[in-house]
Amino acid sequence: MADHKWFTDARFGMFIHFGLYSIAARGEWFASIEQVPPEKYRDYFETFFPVYYDPASYARIAKQAGMKYAVLTAKHHEGFCLFDSVYTDYKSVNTPIGRDLVREYVDAFRKEGLRVGIYYSLVDWHHPDYPAFHDPFHPLRGSKARENETCDFNRYLDYMHGQVRELCTNYGKIDLFWFDFSYEGHSGAHWRAKELTEMVRSLQPDILINSRLEASGGNLGSLLTNSPTPWAGDFITPEQIIPPAPLKTPGNLSVCWEACQTLNNSFGYTADDHDYKDAGTCIQQLADCVSKGGNYLLNVGPDANGSIPPRAVETLQEIGKWMKYNNESIYGCGESPLKVSAFGCRTTSKENIIYLHVMQQPVGPLPLSGIRPEDIHYARMLSTGAEVEILTSGWAVDNYPDYTFLSLSSRANETQLLPDSADTVIKLVLKER
Ligand code: GLC
Repeated sequence: MADHKWFTDARFGMFIHFGLYSIAARGEWFASIEQVPPEKYRDYFETFFPVYYDPASYARIAKQAGMKYAVLTAKHHEGFCLFDSVYTDYKSVNTPIGRDLVREYVDAFRKEGLRVGIYYSLVDWHHPDYPAFHDPFHPLRGSKARENETCDFNRYLDYMHGQVRELCTNYGKIDLFWFDFSYEGHSGAHWRAKELTEMVRSLQPDILINSRLEASGGNLGSLLTNSPTPWAGDFITPEQIIPPAPLKTPGNLSVCWEACQTLNNSFGYTADDHDYKDAGTCIQQLADCVSKGGNYLLNVGPDANGSIPPRAVETLQEIGKWMKYNNESIYGCGESPLKVSAFGCRTTSKENIIYLHVMQQPVGPLPLSGIRPEDIHYARMLSTGAEVEILTSGWAVDNYPDYTFLSLSSRANETQLLPDSADTVIKLVLKER
């Protein structure tokens, strides 16, 4: 069984969406949405020259942000390969850039000590044996050009399996394989998923595989059941949503999961999508994921020249400043077994420590339920180490005896503003039971 520990220790990763769609600058789905004909796309292939593609800088940005792993799109739905595949000419080494971009990515991220994941789309809008006419998403769906198509889908599956074999053979130790995505009539056996899963695991025995050989961003798959399929994968991938509660099987066993999230609203570079989340929002989302036993995969979409948008870099730098002093409450943490609830808080925990992520400014002392003062050895502000007083007397304690109160101010009945308005972490070290 694959080793999940590095993954659940890591908690925070970088998603990188890069491809020919970055030239269109309208997201990775523009070809489907606009039903772009192949000849239009050919221009992108013939001019693809990301002069600033620099995975070493991406790795530095990820590391500084506190990310522990990354996932790069080696082939997205458009079918263009960022790796040197013998199965196709439709690859970055045959474009003006002339390089194997996946090779450079795995080398650079490993050099920074980060784990490497590969995203590979099961869907392929370029391959002639991938059916288009009746497909709900293909750019040539319903087109005259594909009305009488005679696709040999097994030939496409041989191509797809061959490329997955290349990625699992030619690029060293791959930590995570991120398939995308299954949809009606295209799931499990349709991909020859059992054979594919066995092949990936035989080539990369420690690899973690996501759930999308049968699932998608919206459909969570059979890992949440008592009888997962052989291709259910090792973790679930909710997309653009953080589950409202920890993900468990009917037998109440925790299931690994990772929420993938965009910084603005687009995975692939979108020039006019300026709706970037601020660092505080991302920090809160990260803490929310960890409080429910999940990971947070935050996306960057480099532009056609290979540069990560400045707004994204700035936000990741801000996240890194918070992570520098608070990462103890993220790495190796998960759902708190002690159901401590507090006003405007999330709780993460590991061993005999509970981390209170205070995300809303309390008025007066912070009320906790589910824990008693006698349970707590001591409380500290995580980022500064400053003592946090556990109140034993005063209005709050006298009037609300069923709660435990933490004072956020050294002066009674005053309210100290949270040192970090997005997420101030208080470390509660519990007494050994
Ligand atoms: C969805 C989108 C795909 C994106 C993926 C990321 O499957 O179709 O474009 O790469 O989500 O999770």
